Amino acid sequence: MYPTLLAIHNIIRWVVLGSLVFGVFTSVEGLLTKRDYTRVDMITRGITSGVSHLQLLIGLLLYASVSPITKSFLQNGAQGNDQLLFFGVWHAAAMILAVVLITIGAAIAKRASTDRKKFKATLIWFAISLLVILSAIPWFRPFFRAF
Ligand code: HEM
Repeated sequence: MYPTLLAIHNIIRWVVLGSLVFGVFTSVEGLLTKRDYTRVDMITRGITSGVSHLQLLIGLLLYASVSPITKSFLQNGAQGNDQLLFFGVWHAAAMILAVVLITIGAAIAKRASTDRKKFKATLIWFAISLLVILSAIPWFRPFFRAF
């Protein structure tokens, strides 16, 4: 269960990053070329939001009941151990914030009255979320993990 969930969480990270970068890039391009907000933009928004919520769920499951690292953190605190502190506090808090930002951005973009406002909302909220995620990914871990 633990290796499988960790491997899934590892891979979904790339889908979250890819859809966020694509969303930011196409929003800039949409604003610059003044094109319409199309079905592809709606699908990108939906995939980014859906996949980040899935990652949030798996992360919460790892955190609350599967990971030996967070289990140790919850029982004994960080005890001066950087890795325990990273996963116990920073990774979880920053990633929850990032998913909240994506959710707010997607909702504002969905309800916005003009295509320009949709692109702007996507650009601002997804870009901030992307920065938060980049700062909280454990880059010291493997980039891919076998199941
Ligand atoms: C967009 C959101 C997230 C991304 C991109 C992300 C990314 C990652 C990555 C790349 C790893 C390392 C995986 C590996 O070592 O193979 C990891 C580990 C972990 N993440 Fe996340 N994560 C996200 C959200 C969350 C959330 C919301 C939580 C909990 C509230 C969480 C809890 C954990 C835990 C507990 C571990 C590893 C523990 C261990 O190694 O035992 N993650 N995450």
